[in-house]
Amino acid sequence: METLITDFLVIGSGVAGLRAAVELARAGDVWVVTKDEVAESSTEYAQGGVAVALSDEDRVGIHFEDTIKAGDGLCREEAVRVLVEEGPERILELIRWGAEFDKKGTKLDFTLEAAHTRKRVLHAHGDSTGKEIERVLINRVKQFENIKRMPFSMGMELIVKNGKCCGAYVVHKKRLLRIVARATVLATGGGGQIFARTTNPSVATADGMAMALRAGAVLEDMEFIQFHPTVLYAPGAPQFLLSEAMRGEGGVLRNIYGERFMERYHPDQELAPRDVVSRAIISEMVKTKSTHVYLDLTHLDGAFLKRRFPRIYRTCLMYDLDITRDRIPVSPAAHYTMGGVKTDTMGRTSIKGLFAAGEVACTGVHGANRLASNSLLEGLVYGARAGRAAVEEALKETDLKDVLVAESIDSFGNIEEIADVRTRLRRVMWERVGIIRCNESLSIARKELERLRPITEKNYLTRQELELKNMINTAEVVTESAIQRRCSIGAHYRSDFKEKASCFYHTLVRYDDGRINISRELLKEDS
Ligand code: FAD
Ligand code: SIN
Repeated sequence: METLITDFLVIGSGVAGLRAAVELARAGDVWVVTKDEVAESSTEYAQGGVAVALSDEDRVGIHFEDTIKAGDGLCREEAVRVLVEEGPERILELIRWGAEFDKKGTKLDFTLEAAHTRKRVLHAHGDSTGKEIERVLINRVKQFENIKRMPFSMGMELIVKNGKCCGAYVVHKKRLLRIVARATVLATGGGGQIFARTTNPSVATADGMAMALRAGAVLEDMEFIQFHPTVLYAPGAPQFLLSEAMRGEGGVLRNIYGERFMERYHPDQELAPRDVVSRAIISEMVKTKSTHVYLDLTHLDGAFLKRRFPRIYRTCLMYDLDITRDRIPVSPAAHYTMGGVKTDTMGRTSIKGLFAAGEVACTGVHGANRLASNSLLEGLVYGARAGRAAVEEALKETDLKDVLVAESIDSFGNIEEIADVRTRLRRVMWERVGIIRCNESLSIARKELERLRPITEKNYLTRQELELKNMINTAEVVTESAIQRRCSIGAHYRSDFKEKASCFYHTLVRYDDGRINISRELLKEDS
């Protein structure tokens, strides 16, 4: 098998992976391996913006409080403090590197999103914030000769030798490549694709979580999936996000009879936390026997809407929907994975030499529910931190020959009808492990996943097969964690256990002989 030896391996090229790569470049050679084009990532599609306490009316302490409140009691305070305190520095640095955030006159323009008590969300080109961040980071990475990019190459398994991660097996040009590195940063993003309805791009198949799990790492709080309330629901149209910033600018929700309903569910109405708005929408859909509700912006100035949301305006028009004149049919969809590979505030995982940052990681910064627009900031702050920690770790190694490993992946199987199985998996997760869960629905999902388990016991070489394996492994962890959490908190809502009192713990998951082992890390005494 071909072997490539480098100082640092980064898997994933969204905001977290690219920011980590920049940090690593000061200490050695970096390979950024990514399974599609470099820009293809959730980062590229991020719309609303990036939250940062930089406006005159804001303070990091207020950003801290809002994040903690949204996390519903499960945030790790130290992780949040790092995020809000280092966030301004990371954003100013990005501006120095060429990021053009929208301005009002000469000052940065901040918008409001749900559960923020201040206007603190910076945006670019109206609703293309992620694209701008990705552009700037790709340009930055290109300035370093020692950062090399390997697109269309898929991380398959991590290499762990004597308890230390020393790289990964990667499928590159249909062949297996062994990349040996002093330190590895996982930045593979989230797993929205395990649900039939999702805002996430097709690359978001939870690969990093599954790879880390199989390698022996601890995953945390995987039951917490954020469902975004307003995703386009129109025949033939993609599951396209309609940014929360549209409600921040005054958009309202109406049921199919044209009635506003959010005042019946929460005092903050359309700007209530996402889990509240998503459940309210589901409740209205059930009451009115409908597949959707409407996002209504028709009372707002049309010219302003076109200027403020140009990408959304253009996309909706392709499906004969004019946001300035028509109410837009929407329903919720899976959007963000709050849990992930457990890390400390330096991105260190439970495996030496393995670091994780961005959506694949769980620093505890989001708790049970992420505050809108905190994840791009998380990618910048924790990508840089994981990079710094990986540099320190690498300094301890003297001889790469010591970590060369002999294991190989040599048996490849084929599974039939990958697309069908993928569809089945996504449907059961959406229908049974979605916005509202109960023991009965979760048990049905568990049974279906048990049937799919044999698929995960083989090694594969194609992207579709590997993704399916990763999706099944991760779906099992999400489902088992949700079964065990017999209470409701943040984005995890159990119709059979609505109380919150016994919910103040983190769920820790690891593999024991290839089987899921779940334990709890308590925060405070159950009452
Ligand atoms: P990503 O940006 O998803 O990057 C992951 C990378 O890993 C990709 O390059 C992918 O190809 C690669 N990869 C995955 N698996 C493998 C593998 N096995 N081998 C090699 N490479 C692999 N957050 C905000 O803060 N503000 C917003 O306005 C916002 N809007 C959003 C809108 C949409 C439509 C979506 C989907 C998300 C939005 N989010 C937003 C969330 C945010 O975009 C993501 O959480 C964040 O960009 C994740 O960054 P990341 O670097 O961790 O992962
Ligand atoms: C949005 O624009 O609504 C997405 C923001 C986010 O997920 O943080």
